[in-house]
Amino acid sequence: MSRGFAKGSLRYGVIGCGIQGESHIKIVAALPNAELISVCDVDEQRARTAALKHGARHALTDYNDLLADDAVEAVSIALPDHLHREVTVKAFEAGKHVLLEKPMATTVDDAQAIVDAQEKSGKKLMINWSNRWMPMFWSTKEMLDQGEFGDPMYVYARLNNTLYVPTQMLSWSANTRLPFWLICHRYDIARWYFKSEAKRVTAVCRSQVLKGMGIDTPDFYQTTVEFENGCVGNFESCWILPETLPYLVDSKFQLICSKGYVNVDPTPPVYQVATSDSYDHKGFITGEVAGEPRGFVFEAGSHFVNAVLRDETPLITGHDGLMITKALAAMVEAAETGQAVEL
Ligand SMILES: NC(=O)c1ccc[n+]([C@@H]2O[C@H](COP(=O)([O-])OP(=O)(O)OC[C@H]3O[C@@H](n4cnc5c(N)ncnc54)[C@H](O)[C@@H]3O)[C@@H](O)[C@H]2O)c1
Repeated sequence: MSRGFAKGSLRYGVIGCGIQGESHIKIVAALPNAELISVCDVDEQRARTAALKHGARHALTDYNDLLADDAVEAVSIALPDHLHREVTVKAFEAGKHVLLEKPMATTVDDAQAIVDAQEKSGKKLMINWSNRWMPMFWSTKEMLDQGEFGDPMYVYARLNNTLYVPTQMLSWSANTRLPFWLICHRYDIARWYFKSEAKRVTAVCRSQVLKGMGIDTPDFYQTTVEFENGCVGNFESCWILPETLPYLVDSKFQLICSKGYVNVDPTPPVYQVATSDSYDHKGFITGEVAGEPRGFVFEAGSHFVNAVLRDETPLITGHDGLMITKALAAMVEAAETGQAVEL
């Protein structure tokens, strides 16, 4: 049974007003049980524009000022992957609830520090692996848990980007690795389905195209994860697909079970928009309806706000984030050393 929106109003701040941060700002502004108090970005113009557009009271450039404001009860943190630790730890020290963008962190030490700070504060933490709220991943989980597929055995998951992402969309791509940027989404789903942790990780990566462009991060990763309960996941990701492709995401997800099979391709070519002088191949799983955000990212943000207001544990906890970070860091280590990593 649907529980609708929790009663109350959560006073909210958003740190980072880039692509994903603006999405959080729009969600908070649209939610009936949240109030957008402050937004923050080191880029003052970006913070001001977002505040004006979405009705925040304050536009700040130093997140310490936002965290010092007692009027703010909860924050979204949407900073580049490698900058999550310091701001999240400070947010808990300031007594805020935190919706932290994926990946939780790019090192196990950082993830552990975040968990420690959260446990000390007693506040809520959710890591925003929002793909769980895509209807196909959600309903597969329900069918799996109801036993309709038998036992889960194997996942094959591919999540790729075009070259546009590491070269133009992100100024900080050299500071992350594909396991943290992309594979983490599919690893989170597989682990959620398998209900088990990584035991042994093997991986390879190669650096050629991006390195040649002066961006020091591998072009692709191929990884195999054996889980404690015997399930196996094969996760692969690249971000050097040609920019001439019509859509910047290429994705495939297959779940093989003892009595069933699920095949998910979240990017089929079904939403093509052509005018007399332009062609756009749009994503279709999120968007705006009547000026308000809809889709899985909205659902994830709404879940967090409802969990805080109802004093419930959000679906994706700090513990989940820590266990996922251990597996992702093992992928990076295995690929760099050429040795299997036992967890
Ligand atoms: N859940 C998802 O599906 C999803 C999708 C895209 C990105 N993300 C995650 O969201 C995070 C942000 O990604 P993005 O694509 O929005 O990046 P972005 O580069 O577009 O935005 C980052 C913003 O942070 C600002 N910033 C950097 N340092 C700061 C600081 N110290 N204080 C305040 N602002 C600061 C930058 O000026 C920039 O505006 C990343 O961790 C990324 O992995 C998640």
